[in-house]
Amino acid sequence: MTNKTTALATAAMTALAISHASAQEAPAVDMKAADARAAATVSQMTADEKVVLTHGIMPLPLGGPTPPMPKDAIPGAGYIPGIERLGVPALKETDASLGVSYVMGIRKDGATALPSGVAQAASWNPDLMYRGGAMIGSEARAKGFNVLLAGGVNLMRDPRNGRTFEYLAEDPLLSGMLVGAAIRGIQSNHIISTIKHFALNGQETGRKYVDVKISESAAHESDLLAFKIGIEQGQPGSVMCAYNRVWGEQACANEWLLNKVLKGEWGYKGFVMSDWGAVPNLESAMKGLDQQSGEQLDPAVFFGDKLKDKAAADPAWKARVDDMNRRILTAIYASGLDKNPANPGGKIDFAANGMVAEDVAKQGIVLLKNNGALPLAKTAKSIAIIGGYADGGVLSGAGSSQVHGEGGPAVTKPVAGKGVWAGFIAQQYHRSSPMDAIQSLASQAKVTFRDGRYIADAVEKAKQSEVAIVFATQWQTEGLDVPDLSLPDGQDALIAAVAAANPNTIVVLETGGPVKMPWLDKVAGVIEAWYPGARGGPAIASVLFGDTNPSGRLPLTFPASEAQLPRPKLDGSDWVEPDFSGNPSSGSDKLVADYDIEGSDVGYRWFARNGAKPLFPFGYGLSYTTFETTGLKLKGLSAKFTVKNTGQREGADVAQLYLVSRNGEAKRRLAGFQRVNLPAGGSQTVSVTIDPRILADWKDGSWTMPSGEYAFALGKDAETLSTPVSVRLTARKWKD
Ligand code: BGC
Repeated sequence: MTNKTTALATAAMTALAISHASAQEAPAVDMKAADARAAATVSQMTADEKVVLTHGIMPLPLGGPTPPMPKDAIPGAGYIPGIERLGVPALKETDASLGVSYVMGIRKDGATALPSGVAQAASWNPDLMYRGGAMIGSEARAKGFNVLLAGGVNLMRDPRNGRTFEYLAEDPLLSGMLVGAAIRGIQSNHIISTIKHFALNGQETGRKYVDVKISESAAHESDLLAFKIGIEQGQPGSVMCAYNRVWGEQACANEWLLNKVLKGEWGYKGFVMSDWGAVPNLESAMKGLDQQSGEQLDPAVFFGDKLKDKAAADPAWKARVDDMNRRILTAIYASGLDKNPANPGGKIDFAANGMVAEDVAKQGIVLLKNNGALPLAKTAKSIAIIGGYADGGVLSGAGSSQVHGEGGPAVTKPVAGKGVWAGFIAQQYHRSSPMDAIQSLASQAKVTFRDGRYIADAVEKAKQSEVAIVFATQWQTEGLDVPDLSLPDGQDALIAAVAAANPNTIVVLETGGPVKMPWLDKVAGVIEAWYPGARGGPAIASVLFGDTNPSGRLPLTFPASEAQLPRPKLDGSDWVEPDFSGNPSSGSDKLVADYDIEGSDVGYRWFARNGAKPLFPFGYGLSYTTFETTGLKLKGLSAKFTVKNTGQREGADVAQLYLVSRNGEAKRRLAGFQRVNLPAGGSQTVSVTIDPRILADWKDGSWTMPSGEYAFALGKDAETLSTPVSVRLTARKWKD
């Protein structure tokens, strides 16, 4: 790569970073400066001290033998002892991206639950991601934690993945920009954030052994690009490696992922922590793993005495152990953990934090269909609410990321299952009642509730009411994929019957990801509320009645059927027995996920490649007003256009720019986006700097752009595109 092209690529990235950082945001942490200080500390460490930061327990009773709890440990995901002599604090770790996790009620203190990751991402709003991150990071800190295991950014290669709700998007640019902003927000609290699960952790079925096959090029252009952008934008102190295998090697012992790509090509200076129970052996250290987390879940404590013995016997191991310590210390110093200790018992303003969660929910709710019935009139006389425990609360996703406020869940439905995590899994609803919120906005209405178990009874109520609102749920959990994209428990039949009885039937979806909607043409309106978090009830009501103009856009494609997916049948779904710990069962060597089927054409790109028509495309979302985005002008990697609110209400739009062809060859890649808030009649000129990696191919260790015509279009979504505008770009080749 020439110096000129390096400089161009760097300048484009810097411009992109600047355009997404708002004035009040803290800058990303400075890993380089911290690295020098870390090296000095390592030079003072004894051999014993060098295996203190390298491993630790999960300070929770997990059903098996629980190691003794250190005096200063807090119940949570992880504990790594400190080194007092050197002023190095212990690492106290909690999950995760939606807030300080609840660990199935072992913690009783309560925390503010952000909406699910996919709900956050549906805002397409990096500034909001920053605010959300800053909020959950402040709660972690106030509870005494100095590491938040947030930053889940695996690309959604399969919407049946049980962790779809936790992740962000199917596109690398959108995912990377959003996770980077969240990490900056979290780390602004002088705590460390992770980015996870590195990498290609695309399904939960057989998650500890599924073996991913993908070409290096496709990996760099998709999943790895999301991580790379997230790391550039957020500078996380830590990367958590994943459970799965890649080309036969466990991700946490994967030379290619950890040593070659992350630390070599990308020059990452922080540390790699293992996922819990993901370390296969001591040799993982030489492959790039720096810290063994939740060690009681692994076959042995590898990174304690065993590591010390190796370091004493072999200079290569000694050097590696020094490097492991240096990296962990770099993260500690970069976020200032030693100088700004976390503060157990710190004050939390739950009312203010709840409003952050509510704002995220409001910006993430997506209006999918509206025949004019929405927004609802506050003067409605009678409203029938049906299903989804909407009298009590809103659904949340389960697993390590689950958060609840003080008082715990409104509703808990236990789930049968085996494996160490089984006790952590239940279908739970946050205490935020949509019904109460609806009643308070439509104060004169008679609001009734039926749980939806008996269709005839629900239909009767719907007939008696001006409006029927069906709350339909699809529960997802870590550790388990959903078998298909249907709404479970007969909800499709319920919706169809209610819609037949009342033409003003609105469906509110609380789902982890996409679902099929066989009743779509029969209902008056549909909103996708995802898992809307601690204040989901008021957020949903606010959108239904128009106090909030919906502005969420789908961060992933809603397929019309499973047959449209790269893998119509999820690998292993027909023979792997569900086990929440994901431990290998017989035949596990056979479980292969072939990601070369779609390669880097994940999600909408796969649909574009095949000309398949989804139920709702990536980027889709309606509003109560109308927008026109016009006047696309391109100069090199800069794009300019104007967004106008052509309707009657204030609202936000998400302008989307897509690469649609390169030298005549059809492509579909999100090249830039910008959320804009506009009063009725208002307009704004938007400038977007295009990241050249989106236009390039990754070949033989470099990014390569051929010279020629690059055509771009403005998109209402990935399918509804304006007339393309072309720009001539010269050939480039550069390294990460
Ligand atoms: C999950 C991680 C989580 C860890 C600690 C694992 O099972 O995959 O995302 O951070 O547990 O709870």
